Amino acid sequence: MKKLSVNTEKPIGKKSLDQYLRQFKGSPYYYGNASHAFYDVMVWLQENRPMKKPNIVMPVYIPAKLYRFILAAGYEPKFYDVSTDLNIDLKEISDLIDDQTQAVFAIHYFGVPVDLKPLKNITECAGVYLIEDCAHTMNSYYKGRQLGSTGNCTLFSTRKMLQLHCGGAMVLNIKSWDFKPSRNKRVWTPFTMYHFAGSRIKYKVNKLLKAYSPFKQSTMRYNGYINYSEQHFVRVKNMDFFFMWYNKVSDLDKMVDKRRKNFLHLLNGINDLDSFFPMGLERYAKREKKGQYLLKKGFVPFSMPILTPTGTRDQIQKAISDAGVLCYVGWPEAPFGLDGFKGASMLKDRLLELPIHQFMDSYHLNIIIDCLNSLPDTVKRSEKQRLVSA
Ligand SMILES: Cc1ncc(COP(=O)(O)O)c(C=O)c1O
Repeated sequence: MKKLSVNTEKPIGKKSLDQYLRQFKGSPYYYGNASHAFYDVMVWLQENRPMKKPNIVMPVYIPAKLYRFILAAGYEPKFYDVSTDLNIDLKEISDLIDDQTQAVFAIHYFGVPVDLKPLKNITECAGVYLIEDCAHTMNSYYKGRQLGSTGNCTLFSTRKMLQLHCGGAMVLNIKSWDFKPSRNKRVWTPFTMYHFAGSRIKYKVNKLLKAYSPFKQSTMRYNGYINYSEQHFVRVKNMDFFFMWYNKVSDLDKMVDKRRKNFLHLLNGINDLDSFFPMGLERYAKREKKGQYLLKKGFVPFSMPILTPTGTRDQIQKAISDAGVLCYVGWPEAPFGLDGFKGASMLKDRLLELPIHQFMDSYHLNIIIDCLNSLPDTVKRSEKQRLVSA
């Protein structure tokens, strides 16, 4: 296998997920999803370096499932806010670290990269671990550094980036104690194969019908809030044999190319609409003289997060969904009823994720572009100034 430095400006050029994970310093582990890996690491850290009241410094804009796993592992989350450029505030994070902090958690949201080197310096000085969340990216780099190579532990959600029914991975670069994933349940291969085949057939049909969806297969519930009154159990699952095989044959380069191509198509298609604000744009794109965008090298997105004008997000999501393309809205359950998180409260209400994954084609993307262009003026009115100053 070709050896590549993690500090490279060149494309990674790795073919399979297996090869990709093995190039990191540290040991790769496969899981049923990223959250289970996260849970295992938190429990393992606390077993080996017990704290009286362990805490983890977390962004407050996260899916409720991560929040539940923190609590299930016996930690207190100490939350920091997330701004609309999806970057981190080093001071805010370092002020939260105390003598009971086991780890700091940082996310490359939707693939928008964060320079984690300065944060790593802070965590190293404080003697706490850095957990890097690459759930929304893979095979990417920023400022010459591969995303995933800075954290002491890095999480990948392979099910998201490879569009699979299940699958997550972790690279652990903490060698102080032996780590063994807790595996109390193995997923049954015929179960996952069935879901895998179902999702692939859905994509084929959708492509064949050019996103025409008479049975509203692509329609989703617009408000996916979690019911906290239900009891939630934590089960740690491992990959099944089918996905272990799939990890070896999946082509990451192809996935990267298609995601970048789709992202650029969409970005240039909505570039005249100044009411929709692609978040963190300057970190992954630059504008050419002709007004078109170019993506920076190494950027590998999960979706395109845009900030919609106040009070219009759900209407826009519904319009695109009715036209046959499914968009997600981040995590409307965050910031979990907590006050004082201005950024996350805004994201909760206004963030819309435009899909650009590898099974989208140009006609899907054009549906989104046409939809955004044909929204009523009340929605499209320019509020760039307001967004910038927010
Ligand atoms: C930013 C982020 N990190 C981690 C996870 C957990 O990934 P998984 O669903 O594979 O457990 C998610 C899932 O939504 C996520 O969005």
